[in-house]
Amino acid sequence: MKLAENKATLSFSQGGAPIELPIYKGSIGPDVIDIRKLYAQTGMFTYDPGFLSTAATQSAITYIDGDKGELLYRGYPIEQLATNCDFLETCHLLLYGELPNAAQKAEFTSRVTNHTMVNEQMQFFLRGFRRDAHPMAVLTGLVGGLSAFYHDSTDINNPKHREIAAIRLIAKMPTLVAMAYKYSVGQPFVYPKNHLSYAGNFLHMMFATPCEEYKVSPVLERAMDRIFTLHADHEQNASTSTVRLCGSSGTNPFAAIAAGVACLWGPAHGGANEACLNMLEEIQAMGGISKVGEFMEKVKDKNSGVKLMGFGHRVYKNYDPRAKLMQETCNEVLTELGLENDPLFKLAKALEKIALEDEYFVSRKLYPNVDFYSGIVQRAIGIPVPLFTAIFALARTVGWIAQLNEMISDPEYKIGRPRQLFSGAVKRDVQPIGTR
Ligand code: SDX
Repeated sequence: MKLAENKATLSFSQGGAPIELPIYKGSIGPDVIDIRKLYAQTGMFTYDPGFLSTAATQSAITYIDGDKGELLYRGYPIEQLATNCDFLETCHLLLYGELPNAAQKAEFTSRVTNHTMVNEQMQFFLRGFRRDAHPMAVLTGLVGGLSAFYHDSTDINNPKHREIAAIRLIAKMPTLVAMAYKYSVGQPFVYPKNHLSYAGNFLHMMFATPCEEYKVSPVLERAMDRIFTLHADHEQNASTSTVRLCGSSGTNPFAAIAAGVACLWGPAHGGANEACLNMLEEIQAMGGISKVGEFMEKVKDKNSGVKLMGFGHRVYKNYDPRAKLMQETCNEVLTELGLENDPLFKLAKALEKIALEDEYFVSRKLYPNVDFYSGIVQRAIGIPVPLFTAIFALARTVGWIAQLNEMISDPEYKIGRPRQLFSGAVKRDVQPIGTR
């Protein structure tokens, strides 16, 4: 970042000397006012619950222009990556800053492929869960459990250790998600197959059984790969900020990623894809498109607590570019599977049309986000609804680890420790219980 010519001056209506605060510029996007010395100079904190106006870090990985609906991974538009690259090329880009050439891609793919197996002991973690446990509860446990196998071999201050941890996590997440699925349906775990692509291997581990050959459909393989790319990273969202804050204590990367999985589960975040599909099924059960108007009235009634899941975003005040690409993928997959008349897809498109013309949504700049269509395409692929967020976590792992490694490799990084505005009881003495 570079110092801007202009500065910010903070003056106080009750008098006292004004404070000058430096302003820094990035390569694109909003400038920042550096308030690191504010408390020392004024004895005051800034106040920004939810971090609506706070840059918690500088980063060179992902840039979002919410007004334009633009998303860049290391400068490349998501539209170009989703069309011209595959997920492992995108992983290489996010981790190392550049798209791989053919030789680098082959080497990176081979490294990931050769780390896809998990320790045989991992299956015993699963046995502790009920078969109907939510996959995100299982995945949070499994990823945290991974740290037990690597805790002693991960010195996060060693760049080589950080890199192998990144490869292990990217490689093993599909295996763990597929194991969580197989466990839930009472089928045997399927081991990775090294001759398959990253997405193909995931589909094989999910849907193959020992009883017959499972042929990966190239259309589903491409759709799955694109779903991974669209979810790979997204600047300083809640789960990425969780991973950064957790990792800032020096804990091992597996524990930090487990914290990210736990945060992503929430319906306001990655859990929205599952909540959105459930919402569509609920409207369908009520009567489908004819009931959309009634549902929308509930959404607009503040007291109903009902939200249009898959809509709205803290940063995008325009169409989420990922939602557009996800809708395209939906079209491709449904057409390929002869499901172009899928009632939920038609319902979702009708909902979107109504919402985009409704003053409530227009005035609040609420547009479809990545979660609005992702559930429909995953359901068409055969993925059960409760597994949607686990697949989001699988894909986001590369973003989490790239952001964590970026933080740890910054010699200036410190443990994150926000302060507060205290509004509780002032100092008072404990009274004997007989007089309380
Ligand atoms: C993801 O941060 C990221 O980058 C996340 C993510 C990523 O890739 O990591 O993009 C992934 O989490 C996408 C978002 C998935 N969540 C949902 O689809 C859940 C539904 N969306 C909302 O909960 C909400 O839009 C949030 C949480 C996504 C954003 O909330 P904000 O920024 O805190 O906005 P807000 O709640 O203050 O909403 C502003 C207004 C409010 O109305 P008013 O008080 O001004 O009258 O818009 C309303 C909200 O009530 N509103 C909605 C709505 N979203 C916002 N009303 C109905 N339906 C919605 N979905």
